[in-house]
Amino acid sequence: MADARGEMIIIGGGVAGLMAALAASPARVTLLNPGPLGAGAASAMSQGGLAAAVGDDDAIALHIADTLAAGAGLCDAQAVARIIGAGPGLVETLLRLGVRFDRRENGALALGLEAAHARPRILHANGDQTGAEIMRALIARARATPGIKIIQATARKILLDDAGVCGVLTDQGALPAARVLLATGGIGGLFSHTTNPEGAIGQGLMLALDAGAELADIEFIQFHPTALDVPGAALPLISEAVRGEGARFIDETGAYFLAGGDLAPRDVVARAVFAHGQAGHKVFLDARGLGGRFATRFPAIAAICARAGIDPAQQPIPVRPAAHYHMGGVKVDAAGRTSLPGLYAAGEVARTGLHGANRLASNSLLEAAICGEAAGRAMAALEARRVRAGRGALPPVPDAVPVRSLMSAHLGVLRDAAGMARAAEIFAGMAASNPAAALASRIALAALARKDSVGAHALDPAKQLYKAA
Ligand code: SIN
Repeated sequence: MADARGEMIIIGGGVAGLMAALAASPARVTLLNPGPLGAGAASAMSQGGLAAAVGDDDAIALHIADTLAAGAGLCDAQAVARIIGAGPGLVETLLRLGVRFDRRENGALALGLEAAHARPRILHANGDQTGAEIMRALIARARATPGIKIIQATARKILLDDAGVCGVLTDQGALPAARVLLATGGIGGLFSHTTNPEGAIGQGLMLALDAGAELADIEFIQFHPTALDVPGAALPLISEAVRGEGARFIDETGAYFLAGGDLAPRDVVARAVFAHGQAGHKVFLDARGLGGRFATRFPAIAAICARAGIDPAQQPIPVRPAAHYHMGGVKVDAAGRTSLPGLYAAGEVARTGLHGANRLASNSLLEAAICGEAAGRAMAALEARRVRAGRGALPPVPDAVPVRSLMSAHLGVLRDAAGMARAAEIFAGMAASNPAAALASRIALAALARKDSVGAHALDPAKQLYKAA
C-alpha cells in the first residue's frame, strides 16, 4: 500500500496530457505513458493542423458557426463558444512554448483550408507535420520542468475510495493519487481500418467504464474519407488539406463522382466515398494538379506515398474511409471534471460537447490543448486529500482483435438496427473477459438507441427495418 498527499497522475502523453502537465506546474505531476513520450500518440500523427480564427478575414463567430454546422445540431453551444473562443489565445501560448508554425513570406502565419471551414484557418507546421511539431515543443518543455515526472507504465485500473479517486493501478504497481486525468486518445484501433495508431483502442474509456464514470455521445465515430488504401489495419492519412489545395476525388474511370463537393463536411464525404466503394468502384484522390508543389507543401505525405510506390504529381492516390476520431467519450465539464470526484478527462477520450455528431476538421488539436490546459489547472487547484491506494483486482487485458470486424461491419460508416443489435449481443457475451468487448458493447447499445441518422451516425437507407425495430 502506498500513501500520498496531493499527487496528480496524468494518463497519456499526447497534446492533452502534456498541456495538462505544464499547466499544473509547479505542482508535482506524474505522467504515465505506455512507451517513450511521443511514440504511439495520435497527436504526433496529426497532419492538417490546428484550427483557430487568426486570419485577417476570419472571426471567432465564423469558426463557431462552422463548428456548430458540422456538429449537426448536437454540439453544446457553450462548450463551442468557450473552446473556439480560446483558439487565438492558444496559438499565442503555443508560439511562446516554442511551436514553429509555418509562415508566409511576409512572416504572417500560413493558414490552410479544410472541409466545411468558411475561411482558411488551419495552422500547420513543416507542411503536414503539425502534430509532431507541437509534440516536439511540448515534450521539450515537459522534460525541462522539474515537477513533471515521466514514467513508462500502462494504467490498468482507476482506484476508488469512498470519496472518489484514490489512485491508479498500473502494470508496475499501485500509485496513489486523488486527482487523475485520462488523456488516452481515441478508439480507432477497435476497427479493421484506422488512421489512429493501432494501439488506440479506447483504453481511457475502458478505465472510465470500469470505474463507473459517465460516458456520452459514444455512438459518434468519425471516418476519414482519405486513408491511403494499402494493406494493413493502421493506414496512413492523406490529409484533407490536400483537397484544400485543390485535389479532387475520382474513380477508376477517371470520373468525378462526388455530388456535394470535395470539401463538404467529413461525414458527408465519407459516406459518398464509402457508397462508391460499395458499388464496386475504386476511389482515388487526384492531386496531379498540384504538380511538383505537392512534395513541398506535403513532404510527409509525399514520403508516405513514395513508400507505397505512388508519385502524387503523376498518379492518383488510392484512398478509402477509415475510423479516425471519436466525438463521444467520458463526459466532462469546462474544467475537465468527469462524474467521478477526482477523475478528469481531456483530449479525444473526453466528450466536451464541442464536436456534437461530427467534428469539424482540425478542431481536435485545438480542443486537446485548450481542455488539457484547463484540466491541468483545475486539478492543481483542487484541494489535496490524503489517499491510500490498495491494489484491487486487475481487470482482464483488453484485446481489440475479436471486436474489429464486427465494429467495422456494424458500427461503421453506414449502420442498421439488425446489425447493431447482433454486434451488441456478441460483444456482451465477450464483455466479462475482454474490456475491449465491454466498451464495444456500450458503443453498439448507444448507437442502437439513436433511431435517426445524424452526423456520423448514419443509418443505411437500403435497410428498411430500422424504424420498426
Ligand atoms: C486531416 O489532416 O485531414 C485531418 C485533420 C483532422 O482530422 O482534424
